[in-house]
Amino acid sequence: FCASSIIGTGSYMPEKVLTNDDLSKIVDTSDEWITSRTGIKERRIAAAEQATSDLAAEAARKAMESAGVSPEEIQLIIVATVTPDMFFPSTACFVQKKIGASNAVCFDVSAACSGFLYALQVARHFINTGNRTTALVIGAEKLSSLINWKDRNTCVLFGDGAGAVVIRRADEETDAPGRVLSTVMGTDGTLADVLKVPGGGSACPITPENVESHPNTIHMEGRETFKHAVTRMLEASQQALEMAGLSASDVALVIPHQANARIISAIAERLNLPLERVFMNLDKYGNTSAATIPVALDEANKAGRLKKGDVVLLVAFGGGFTWASSVVRW
Ligand code: ACO
Repeated sequence: FCASSIIGTGSYMPEKVLTNDDLSKIVDTSDEWITSRTGIKERRIAAAEQATSDLAAEAARKAMESAGVSPEEIQLIIVATVTPDMFFPSTACFVQKKIGASNAVCFDVSAACSGFLYALQVARHFINTGNRTTALVIGAEKLSSLINWKDRNTCVLFGDGAGAVVIRRADEETDAPGRVLSTVMGTDGTLADVLKVPGGGSACPITPENVESHPNTIHMEGRETFKHAVTRMLEASQQALEMAGLSASDVALVIPHQANARIISAIAERLNLPLERVFMNLDKYGNTSAATIPVALDEANKAGRLKKGDVVLLVAFGGGFTWASSVVRW
């Protein structure tokens, strides 16, 4: 039996910044409304010629550099995304081509904002069963491609970006840093309609008749999503900590999915954790779905906020509904 360790992190955020004031010129909104309801001040928007795999490949290169591994050493690439380059091939195949990881098996995972932690758990299974030793797990999104820029309920919330980690087999006996101690996952498909992109797939192809109603953009019941996000992220955090034999007071840093500062504060309060022990960067990037956790993990790592031995709690919630939490000993 083996264990998996995060040995490198990387992220890439597109250069173009879209501020709340910029949005207030497009839809009937204001910096005051967006900041007070969500905590978001600005988000990044990818260039027209940048696909999700371009953002992912940049993040992957940085993660490999930080881990000190070459593309040839990567045996598995999993990309978590709801904005794939195209229906097929998978975005992971394009990433493989772009970074030259010729020895990797590649596929995507679709679990919306929980996608990165789902992908991390899939990669862990490959590694822990001895099937692969080194993997790239990437969360990457070009959500600007799914936004209805006339819908103020949704267009203010999302942004583009990518984050990646390299994970590697670690001997169970060692205290290898970055060790993933536990992961819990959950799904409730009965609530699939609360947060979705209804059109563009086989259920509702885009036609000249329906294109005006924007079926291929994000549709969301905000309040319903908010309520379930708090409950499920709290539950998942507690379960993942319990599985690792730890409690909330052991946690040095929580890296939650970055959707809404009010959701994050509610969870921190219920876990009895001060906000200094909660990482937030959603003011700069908004909600980048599967990318939020690996981007935040990379920023926390590079900022020196993760010390050897620290207990780090990762927790996410997203469309599906899906949720997941992992405990990592840094
Ligand atoms: N600017 C100004 N007014 C707005 C805007 C906007 N951008 N968007 C909505 N409003 C209006 C609404 O139309 C509504 O007006 P009305 O009362 O006249 O109908 C009013 O503001 C209040 O709307 P609510 O939905 O009650 O606002 P709420 O306080 O719930 O905040 C929000 C909305 C921010 C979407 C919140 O519900 C939320 O964050 N939900 C979680 C959604 C989320 O994060 N989804 C991301 C994917 S899942 C995940 O990552 C967790």
